[in-house]
Amino acid sequence: MDAEIFARRRREVMQHMGGGIAIIPSAPVRNRNRDVDFPFRPDSDFYYLTHFPEPDAVAVLVPGRQYGEYILFCREKNPEKEIWEGLRAGQEGADEQYGADDSFPITDIDDILPGLLENRDKVFCSMGRYPEFDRRLMGWVNEVRAKSRNGVHDPGEYVNLDHIVHEMRLIKRPEEIRLMKRAAKVSARAHRRAMQTCKPGMMEYEIEAELLYEFRKGGSPFPAYPPIVGGGANGCILHYTQNDARLNDGDVLLIDAGAEIDGYAADITRTFPVNGKFSGEQKAIYELVLAAQLAAIDQVRPGNHWNDPHDTAVRILVDGLRALKLLNGDTDGLIENGDYKRFYMHRTGHWLGMDVHDVGDYKVAEAWRLLEPGMVMTVEPGLYIGSGSEGIDERWWNIGVRIEDDVLVTRQDSEVLSDDVPKGIEEIESLMREGRKQ
Ligand code: GLY
Ligand code: MN
Ligand code: MN
Repeated sequence: MDAEIFARRRREVMQHMGGGIAIIPSAPVRNRNRDVDFPFRPDSDFYYLTHFPEPDAVAVLVPGRQYGEYILFCREKNPEKEIWEGLRAGQEGADEQYGADDSFPITDIDDILPGLLENRDKVFCSMGRYPEFDRRLMGWVNEVRAKSRNGVHDPGEYVNLDHIVHEMRLIKRPEEIRLMKRAAKVSARAHRRAMQTCKPGMMEYEIEAELLYEFRKGGSPFPAYPPIVGGGANGCILHYTQNDARLNDGDVLLIDAGAEIDGYAADITRTFPVNGKFSGEQKAIYELVLAAQLAAIDQVRPGNHWNDPHDTAVRILVDGLRALKLLNGDTDGLIENGDYKRFYMHRTGHWLGMDVHDVGDYKVAEAWRLLEPGMVMTVEPGLYIGSGSEGIDERWWNIGVRIEDDVLVTRQDSEVLSDDVPKGIEEIESLMREGRKQ
């Protein structure tokens, strides 16, 4: 992405800052075991404002500073280390490639940061996300405070930067939507491949491998979250990620998996029969979830509020469960007392963006937020009938169905970003038949 895009975002943040200073660390590198670290991923807010991919970096915004408003602390060039760990931008790269007005080695931050804090009224930061960094920040503030007799003053106010940046991140700009479409396309390809490959007797992790193959081939460095590949009873475990069981003839398989592309997530779920053909009970549950999902997507449009898709989905699911005699009582009563939650225990969606459960408030002044063009949300109703479900005939057991798409609010209504992967029963069965022929 063009460096100007990030400069524009920083300028927008600075417009909210008056004479304050913003301090934004990237994520720390986390150790996995001894000499092995977890794959590094930058902090989403930091990356949103800098596009700087390296660890050990801190961005500082100082509106009105004479020698430059955007300072980036990062690792120095080090030819010896670069042989082992890869190239570093260094101070020159920070300026030239990443648009920093000024850049210093990260090893100098303790010497330089207290000076930048002097006589600034407010510090904009995100407290609590990285406790070790918060502690260091307090140390720098204390250094300034100790100099008060020299006439300098320390910042008296700490403002949560999250609110400013997260409101910006909630409304996706065209360049972000392009990345989200790419993430959805790559993920859709992976889901199609899974449908075409699946056969009874395979292991869940074999299907996971097919997903990861398409993600990586599509340029995704890693999935946006650990893929869920759950057959039969495992499809009823909402955050199942072991993916190590055999797939049985006659079960349905629930796959919730999405790729990350340049920091942006896709989040897609599909459910299909392991043997390529839905049974009567599976079809009944599937069609009900699909009807709820389509009606909920229809509620995604500007001016509707955040909770409209959920309310719509719940009503259709409850009506349908009553028709199938899986719930007894009247619809309003069942919604009111929450009895349906034994089969549908999560909400119908969440914001989607750089984080799979993305930032942005769901309520404003105690009222559900109105949908606006540029917001992206998932729509993901489901029904889960575990084995041993009390009072439920065995033929319904171990059916876990979720259908999840990524939906952009447009000026008129909405656009489904993830519609490259089929969800109609006929289309799924036909795609699986094709896969068998190959
Ligand atoms: N994959 C997590 C979710 O669907 O919310
Ligand atoms: Mn989701
Ligand atoms: Mn999901």
